[in-house]
Amino acid sequence: MKKIAIMTTGGDCSGLNTVINRIVAGAKIRGWDVWGIIDGTDGLCSKPINVMEMNLKTVPIENARLAGSFLCNGHACMMNFERAIAMGRVSEFNKILRDALAKLKLDALVLVGGNGSFSLAWLNREIYRDLSLVCIPKTIDFDIPLTDRTIGFETAVDQLTKYCDQLLLTARSHHRWFIVQTMGRDCGRLALNAGIAVGADAILVPEIKFDVDELVQHIKSVDRDYGIIMVSEGVTLRGHSGRPAEIIARKLTAAGIANRTAFPDYIQRAGDTVAADRILGAKMATCALNAIENNETYVMTALRGSDCVTVPLSEFYAAGDVRADPNIPLVKTTNAYIEPDDPLLHVASDLGVYIGVGE
Ligand code: F6P
Repeated sequence: MKKIAIMTTGGDCSGLNTVINRIVAGAKIRGWDVWGIIDGTDGLCSKPINVMEMNLKTVPIENARLAGSFLCNGHACMMNFERAIAMGRVSEFNKILRDALAKLKLDALVLVGGNGSFSLAWLNREIYRDLSLVCIPKTIDFDIPLTDRTIGFETAVDQLTKYCDQLLLTARSHHRWFIVQTMGRDCGRLALNAGIAVGADAILVPEIKFDVDELVQHIKSVDRDYGIIMVSEGVTLRGHSGRPAEIIARKLTAAGIANRTAFPDYIQRAGDTVAADRILGAKMATCALNAIENNETYVMTALRGSDCVTVPLSEFYAAGDVRADPNIPLVKTTNAYIEPDDPLLHVASDLGVYIGVGE
């Protein structure tokens, strides 16, 4: 008989509730108690600690497809790792979290988070020294190393695809190009996958340099006077500041190309969870429960082909590109990006999609 808890942290995404539901289902079959920590680390810092006991009535199966997290991910304004590090109060913050986990007398914690949460968990690992820490990767950005997918990514691609499908109809009616700015932070995987799905004529990502004149020439050469130009939010243009979609729109307007910008924003984190994310959620939940059963700790579940395996957090941290947070340089997270041999880059160039200089 074990007592485990689930905590969701970082930006939300669709698929979190599937994971929560499947963890509860699998834990109950094993005869374990499951608790949900409400509001991520805010819940652990609250007095009393903000937790709820969970069963399949608190997370009903018919709601497991809904976006967001039933457990909530925390208030942007509360103390968190980033703020504690910036304020030089990290050991105080770590002690609060460690004491709270000790008070809950947990055998294991399932942390459903992104690369920031996992990097900080690994760097501050003494917090979890008395329990088994098993991480499940979720993010629409898909910027976590060593896994072939993250929970929420496929739904975000689907949301963007549906959004652009609608835009194409008005684009054709008015002979206009739509420059659609996706989320993704400094990782272009979301824009690349969605761009291919919608049949975009250009896909601009932070990992690949591009030339505005080449882009303009390419759009002029398309045998159509409307379409989608997908641009990732992390794209920068030398000598310009502001939203990349707006900068590109001004350049196209100057070249006589009718266009509008579109910002799907948080719709990318919403939407009914697509089947691929639900299957991934079920696989990762099972993998996490098996890891707890085997007394593994400091591990992350990862998709490898069609299998789900655990990888040590030490390997996760070492495998990515460790970069300082632009706002808080003391916070160092590990990141994954589009690889130069990503098959979708070849698909794009084979199909005549503009993806940057040299392609
Ligand atoms: O990391 C997920 C993400 O949605 C990014 O794609 C985006 O840049 C960011 O979070 C937005 O964060 P916030 O919820 O703080 O606005």
